[in-house]
Amino acid sequence: MYNKAIAIIGTGYVGLVQGICMADFGLKVINVDTDEEKISSLKNGHIPIYEPGLKEKFDRVLRKNSIEFTTDIVYAIDNAEVIFTAVGTPPNKDWTADLENVYAVARNIGTYMDDYKLVVTKSTVPVGTGKRLKSIIQEELNKRNVNHPFDVASNPEFLREGKAVQDFMVPDRVVIGSESQKAIEILKNIYRPLNLNQVPFVITGIESAELIKYASNAFLATKIAFINEVANLCEKIGADVHEVAKGMGMDGRIGSKFLHPGPGYGGSCFPKDTRALVATAREVNERISIVEAVIESNENQKIRMVNKMEDKMGTIRGKIIGVLGLTFKAETDDVRDAPSLVIVPELIKRGAIIKTYDPEGIPNFRRQMREFERNITYCYDQYETAKNADAVVILTEWNEFRQMDIRAMKKVMNDSFVFDFRNIFNPKSVRELGFTYEGVGR
Ligand code: UGA
Repeated sequence: MYNKAIAIIGTGYVGLVQGICMADFGLKVINVDTDEEKISSLKNGHIPIYEPGLKEKFDRVLRKNSIEFTTDIVYAIDNAEVIFTAVGTPPNKDWTADLENVYAVARNIGTYMDDYKLVVTKSTVPVGTGKRLKSIIQEELNKRNVNHPFDVASNPEFLREGKAVQDFMVPDRVVIGSESQKAIEILKNIYRPLNLNQVPFVITGIESAELIKYASNAFLATKIAFINEVANLCEKIGADVHEVAKGMGMDGRIGSKFLHPGPGYGGSCFPKDTRALVATAREVNERISIVEAVIESNENQKIRMVNKMEDKMGTIRGKIIGVLGLTFKAETDDVRDAPSLVIVPELIKRGAIIKTYDPEGIPNFRRQMREFERNITYCYDQYETAKNADAVVILTEWNEFRQMDIRAMKKVMNDSFVFDFRNIFNPKSVRELGFTYEGVGR
C-alpha cells in the first residue's frame, strides 16, 4: 500500500470523486483548489455536486481525517510525492482544450518542488500534453538552477456521472501511460486496493494513454449516434429499435451497451471530447470524418425531436408543453450540453409555452436559460407540470418518471400528446390510455 500523501489539484467533478474515493481506501489525500469559497465549504462538510454514494464516503473520510482541503498549492507540493492534476480544461472557441490551468499547475510544481515528484494528468488533455508538461517543469527547474528528478504520467478517468463512485471502485481498467518504470510502479501501488478486485492495468506510452481517453469517448458517442439514426430509420419502415438493438447487441463484437436511442447525447464529456478529437486530428492534417459525422448527427437529433413534435401536433404555436427532465441524463444535476438546452429554446422560438420539472437540474438549467425566463414555468413535480399541458415530453430518464401515474396526468392535461424521447414507457399501454404516444424509433 502506498503510504505517502497524494495531492489532487482541482476539486471539480473528477478531482473530488478521485480524492474522496482514494481517501476512503486509506490514502492520505490533499485536495487543492484556488476557489476559497469552495474549499471552505468543503471543509465544513458541504459537497457541491450531486453524486450517488459520494456524500457518505465524504462524511466518513472527513471524520477519519484522511482528506485535507486547501488553497495552498505549495503546501500540497511540499507534502505529496504524487500530484494528480484534475483541473478544468474548458473548450476554446475552436473546440481545442484550453490547457492554461494544467500548465499553471506544472509551472507551480517546477517552481516549488524540492525532491522527486510524479505528476499525473487526470484531466482530459490532448495528445502531447504530457510531453509539454515535462518541458514546462524542466524549464522552471532550469530557471532555479536545480535538477530535481520528476516523472510525468497520464492516467485518464472513465467515470460516468451518476455512477462515478461505482466506476471508480470497480473500473473496467486502469490506464497508466508513462515512460518511467518508477512512475508506473508508484501508480500501481496507489491503485493496488482496486487491483485486489482483479481490475486490469493497461500500461502504455503517455501518448497512447492520452488518446485512449478521447478515442473511447468518441467511440461511445458514435454508438449512440449510430443507434439514433437506426431509430429514425425504424420509424420510417415500421421496425422497433429496441428489438434491433437487442439483436445487434447480443453479438459480442458489438455489445449491448450504449445502444439506447434518445434525444441526443449531452454532458460535459462527449460533446467536448468528440470536437477536441476532430481538432487534434486537423492539427496534424488528418481527419476523423466518422466523428465529424457523429457530431453533426447528434445536433440534428435534437432538432429532429422538435420537428417530430410539431409534425404530430400540427403546430406548437401557443401550445403548453410540459418538459420532464432537463439534465443530460438521470442521477445528476448537470445540464451541460444537455439536449434540453437546445430543445426548450427551439420550442419557445416556435411559439410554445413551457412548464418544466426536473428532480435535480432546475437551478443549473435556470441559470443558463435566463433569456427565456418569461416563457418557462418551473414546477415542483411531474403532475403540476402536466396540468393544462397539451403535450408532455420526457427528455431525461429519471426513475420517478418511469413510475409516474400517467392516468392521473391525463385527467389534468388539456390535450393528450406524450413524447417519450427516452423510451421509458411501453407504447402500447400508454396508447391504450388514450394518449397520442411517440417514442424514438418504435
Ligand atoms: C462519459 C463516459 O461514459 C465516461 O466513461 C467518461 O469518463 C466521461 O464521459 C468523461 O469523459 O468524463 P458521462 O458524460 O458521465 O460519461 O455520461 P454517459 O453515461 O456516458 O452519457 C453521456 C450521454 O449519452 C448522456 O446524455 C446519455 O443520456 C447519452 N446516452 C448514453 C444515450 O443517449 N444512449 C446510451 O445508450 C447511452
